[in-house]
Amino acid sequence: MTVRINPSILSADFVNLQRDVERIASADLVHVDVMDNHFVPNLTFGPQMVGRLQAIAPIPLDVHLMISDADRWAPGYAELGAFSVTFHAEAASDVVETARALRERGSRAGLAVKPGTAIEPYLELLPEFDQVLVMTVEPGFGGQSFMVETMPKLRTLREAVDRHGLDVWLQVDGGIALDTIGIAAEAGADTFVAGSAVYGRDSVEAAIAKLRAAAEAHTHGSPGRV
Ligand code: DX5
Ligand code: ZN
Repeated sequence: MTVRINPSILSADFVNLQRDVERIASADLVHVDVMDNHFVPNLTFGPQMVGRLQAIAPIPLDVHLMISDADRWAPGYAELGAFSVTFHAEAASDVVETARALRERGSRAGLAVKPGTAIEPYLELLPEFDQVLVMTVEPGFGGQSFMVETMPKLRTLREAVDRHGLDVWLQVDGGIALDTIGIAAEAGADTFVAGSAVYGRDSVEAAIAKLRAAAEAHTHGSPGRV
C-alpha cells in the first residue's frame, strides 16, 4: 500500500509561506486548511491564497475545506486547479452532487467527517469519492491530541474500500505524529496529514521521512493485510 505524507501549512509561518511550502518538496501533497470562522471557530485563507499556492507549490494541493455551504463554494477550488478538494459531510446538503461537481472540474473529490459523525450513511456513496478524510481531532486548530476512538470508523472504511476493490484514499488529519501514525496506518489509513509534527522541527525533510517510515512499517506489518 502506498503511503502519502501531506504536511499541513496551518503550522507553517504565514509570512514565509512560499519558503515553507518549498521546504516540503519531499512530501506528497500540500495540505491546505481553508477555515471560515463559521463551520469552525478559526479563520485561515480563501481562494485568492489557494490560487497563489497552486502557482508556486512544488507538489500538488490537497485542499481541506472547513467551511459552511460547501455545495456552493467547493467547486471554485477545483476551478483553481487544486489536485484534490475535500469538503465536510456536515457542511454539505448534497454530497454526491458536490463530489460530481469537483470531478467535472478536474479535481479529486474528498469527503471529510468530524470525530462524532458516523460513516455508515456514506459507505454506499464511496464510488463517488476519491478520498475520505477521517478527522482524528475536532477540526479547527493544529497541535491537538489524536483521538484513538476514531479508529473503528477507519477500519470500517478500509474494510468497505477493500471489499469493493475501490481506489479511495483514506486520510487522517489531526494529532498525527511519530507516536500515533502507526496506529492510524494499522487501522487502514494510507494518507497522513501532519502539521505540528512537520513544521517547527529542525529539519522538515527529516520529519517527513521519519513519518513516512513509521507509517510504512505499520501498513506492511499489520495482521491480515498485504
Ligand atoms: C485541523 C486541521 C489540520 C491541522 C493538523 O483542523 O484540519 O490539518 O493542521 O494539525 P496537527 O497535525 O498539528 O494536529
Ligand atoms: Zn486539515
